[in-house]
Amino acid sequence: MKLILVAGARPNFMKIAPILESLRRRPARAPVMEVLLVHTGQHYDRKMSDDFFSDLGIPEPDINLGVGSGSHAEQTARILTAFEKVCLSERPDWVIVVGDVNSTMACAVTAKKLGIRVAHVEAGLRSGDMSMPEEINRLCTDAISDLLFTTDEIASANLRREGVPDSRIRFVGNTMIDTLLRHLDRARQMAPPHGLPEGGFAVLTLHRPSNVDDCATLSQIMEALLDVARRIPIIFPAHPRTLGRLKEFGLLATIQDAGLIRLIQPLSYLPFVGMVAHARMVLTDSGGIQEETTVLGIPCITMRPNTERPITCEIGTNILAGNDPARIRGAALEVLSSGPRQFSIPEKWDGRAAERIVELLGGDQPSRRLDL
Ligand code: UD1
Repeated sequence: MKLILVAGARPNFMKIAPILESLRRRPARAPVMEVLLVHTGQHYDRKMSDDFFSDLGIPEPDINLGVGSGSHAEQTARILTAFEKVCLSERPDWVIVVGDVNSTMACAVTAKKLGIRVAHVEAGLRSGDMSMPEEINRLCTDAISDLLFTTDEIASANLRREGVPDSRIRFVGNTMIDTLLRHLDRARQMAPPHGLPEGGFAVLTLHRPSNVDDCATLSQIMEALLDVARRIPIIFPAHPRTLGRLKEFGLLATIQDAGLIRLIQPLSYLPFVGMVAHARMVLTDSGGIQEETTVLGIPCITMRPNTERPITCEIGTNILAGNDPARIRGAALEVLSSGPRQFSIPEKWDGRAAERIVELLGGDQPSRRLDL
């Protein structure tokens, strides 16, 4: 049996790493599974891609499509064209896609149209917000996937509500958390950055187009964050998109002159997780960081009006603040003035999701297991 595992952008890399590792660890008596790793090249900077491969011990991709940046249509079109050639020459039995980036959707569509079976890892997440490109990617990918691996029962219920039969849904847990648990000790050994005291700083990440592409919105968010930074130092590893916008809108100098928010280059996986694990709180608009902070027990203020990961608010440490400056300020000050939050870790976020996936994809009796 031949599998193609696809990764394209930064948040994909920690999701594929444990799947590859579980595939590698399959017992010698298990049927032969040939695995090809395809990197679409959606993210290509060393700090957005290569450093993650080395931190996580992911082997060099077998094929890199080198699609690079562009508008959604341009990027998606380049992936469709390049990945079709790969599928035609390699003829895999399955294509496995993870997450919700453009590469996820484009590779799923390409494979499905060639009659290749598609498995989606992290299926069923829904924000209900069709202005997010990721929501469109999730809906398209889930609608055509043959096998849908979910991270929680809320996601499985979303799929059922959309008419997906139970036979295609598998609640396996969260491969991003597999990676977190596997590397946490090493990450924690890294000292907090810039000599900051343990628990005495906040981490900021910001890159959603809805937050950073409009000058007025980004200015207001940055003003609220500067207010928060008067109470606690903020470290800000800036995404290239955000850095570009800060420069374009003339906001970079204001932030640097205030000297309260320390803007640094994007970090690779281990230093980033280490920094979050030592932080007092995180302010973010990321998807995955909402999950990582829940497992680490670190308060997370999510600067978005909605989340596709409601379980992190229901039982985890996540607080939705939207992008209204007063709400961001209020939520941050409340976290700073209150004690530790009560939280629980979602079911099956136990470091074994990838094992479950590999077992379901092939196991010892591939023909029986694959006829879903
Ligand atoms: C993408 C994902 C988003 C994910 C994010 C994580 C989609 C629709 N969005 O958004 O879900 O949360 O990745 O980072 O797939 N750039 C570089 N170097 C790189 C990559 C990008 O400089 O290695 C710059 C380019 O100017 C590019 C811009 O960042 O145009 C945006 O990159 P893109 O991949 O289009 O989307 P992200 O905002 O990174």
